[in-house]
Amino acid sequence: MSDDDVQLEARLEEQEVFEPPESFVEQANVNDEAIYEEFDENWPDAWERAAELLDWEEEWDQVLDDSDAPFYEWFVDGELNASANCLDRHLADRGDEAAIEWIGELGEKRTYTYDDLHREVNEFAAALRDLGVEEDDVVTMYMPMIPELPIAMLACARIGAPHSVVFAGFSADALATRMESADSEFLVTCDGYYRRGDPLEHKGKADEGLDDVGHDVETIVVDRLDDDYDHPMKAGEHDYDELVAEYAGAEVDPVTRDAEDMLFLMYTSGTTGQPKGVKHTTGGYLSYAAWTSQSVLDIKPDDTYWCSADIGWITGHSYIVYGPLALGTTTVMYEGTPDYPDKDRLWQIVEDYDVTQLYTAPTAIRAFMKWGKEYPEQHDLSSLRLLGTVGEPINPRAWKWYYKHIGREECPVVDTWWQTETGGMMLTTLPGVGDMKPGSAGPPLPGISADIVDVGGDPVEAGRAGYLVVNKPWPGMLRTLYKNDERFIDEYWDEYSNPDRDEWVYFPEDGAKIDDDGYITVLGRVDDVLNVSGHRLGTMEIESAIVGVEGVAEAAVVGGNHEIKGEAVYAYVITEDGYDETEELRDRIIEGVEDAIGPIARPEQVIFTPELPKTRSGKIMRRLLEDIANGDELGNTSTLRNPDVVEDIEAKVRGD
Ligand code: PRX
Repeated sequence: MSDDDVQLEARLEEQEVFEPPESFVEQANVNDEAIYEEFDENWPDAWERAAELLDWEEEWDQVLDDSDAPFYEWFVDGELNASANCLDRHLADRGDEAAIEWIGELGEKRTYTYDDLHREVNEFAAALRDLGVEEDDVVTMYMPMIPELPIAMLACARIGAPHSVVFAGFSADALATRMESADSEFLVTCDGYYRRGDPLEHKGKADEGLDDVGHDVETIVVDRLDDDYDHPMKAGEHDYDELVAEYAGAEVDPVTRDAEDMLFLMYTSGTTGQPKGVKHTTGGYLSYAAWTSQSVLDIKPDDTYWCSADIGWITGHSYIVYGPLALGTTTVMYEGTPDYPDKDRLWQIVEDYDVTQLYTAPTAIRAFMKWGKEYPEQHDLSSLRLLGTVGEPINPRAWKWYYKHIGREECPVVDTWWQTETGGMMLTTLPGVGDMKPGSAGPPLPGISADIVDVGGDPVEAGRAGYLVVNKPWPGMLRTLYKNDERFIDEYWDEYSNPDRDEWVYFPEDGAKIDDDGYITVLGRVDDVLNVSGHRLGTMEIESAIVGVEGVAEAAVVGGNHEIKGEAVYAYVITEDGYDETEELRDRIIEGVEDAIGPIARPEQVIFTPELPKTRSGKIMRRLLEDIANGDELGNTSTLRNPDVVEDIEAKVRGD
């Protein structure tokens, strides 16, 4: 490192507050801090600002109906269609401009202009309708990052059929559970895709999942691999390209949807083994996705914006598809991995496409850091104007690396905290307004009211850890868990018993602390949910997969620190009588988890133990297991029924 570099590193190391760059502020969509006050003084009507970003067929009569809290309704009696908002209304001005720039892993490129996208969405919508998809039927999509995925989503939105996208890395079992739970009779999938240059077969997994679905399913298959993989079509299956060709030129009028009609379902992990079907609506969700895309990601129609998440997660729904397309910008989609064919792949794409905003995850940033600054340095990244992160806490070192080596100290970094359930961003600085504090997401967005409270619901002092709560509803919020209102209330809502506060309060299940400036640092989940590489996984789901393996009597899963993944899965396993602690059993356990959930949930370590540390009342001491996984000093073990087991487990984890 040169002397200059060393000095710069030292300065960055010490700096705790970063002002938004002047050049950014001048052009920012939002650059007046008065917006916070406007929302405070004029709440909830100030939210009309978000709804006004969309075209409505019928304007709302009421901004918020809270008469049946916590079943809130937004933009009551408003009517609109999400696909018309993402496509049709841009055609006059932006028909020839790129809506999607897609880059395949092998280097293929496809550009869909707004005209192209509109055409294909219409054709596929017509095909879906003729296949029997009716308004309110849930259509499942089990596809990787190929353009047909957003096309299918928008085609469903056009005909008023909610979609349920299942991440392609999830297993056959996970697909079946989600299709069963949503009573979904339609599936759009593909033959396979490319990973690190090799074709990866996918259809077999879909077939296996379908075998476990108790009702008939109409399946459409996209041919992604051409001749690299021959997939014989079965009876009752349809080829995507043939369908679209058959309906060439077809036009389908966008179906008028009520603001509160379901736009999509998204399954996510919770405390119990059963995934939760989060319901998002057409009016509130889309308004919120558009508003946060505009105010936080600073999206303008002429931008080439890139969110490197997968559309199989909420980040991709809100910030690859709905937010950016609602604003009529160009959204980049990349099929593959960031280090194929080399570790500069992302930077090559930024340079090739003059990407203006990059929104990625801390786990990726940690990997870039490890690979070294020489990779971004090989490319011209000067087109970048803003950087964002999402999915897990980002440590100040990674934040500063991103700011310096990717953003050239000229781009604000927005650290955005939110969840599948919130539909869009909740805590973050506004990039043209607020100072940035690495490691802290920032204050709640205008109109969002959040606090850090103790177990009794009382706010804790600045600097102390507590539970994050959201005190007021917001347009992007989930409306319920699919067909399970009771679980929706149980899992998320609490009505304060304090007579001074009779409002419903939303619990995101995250721990956090707040500083004197109102900046919130999110510390991590307080329930039994892990965050592995920004992917949310329920420990119960993993445990039930493990105890389903022959030879396993009991299992406890916890998260341990991991340099790149943030958290990694540690599985403590007791074997059944008559079964030995063998490598073969270990392999079957790993396979069992991959089959039940997918490779993302693969345990980092499987530790066999004769017993699990338990309290006298028989509760597993997970905290202790976490400390062991992290090599931390152990807390008090005197309350254990079986303290001797601890040393034994520690020795095993250390590999003694
Ligand atoms: O623990 C928080 C963490 O991710 C959880 C939500 O996961 P999911 O529903 O899969 O959505 C991820 C993408 C929005 C949260 O409860 N999380 C998300 N963003 C951040 C975060 N933790 C800290 N900082 C963030 N910026």
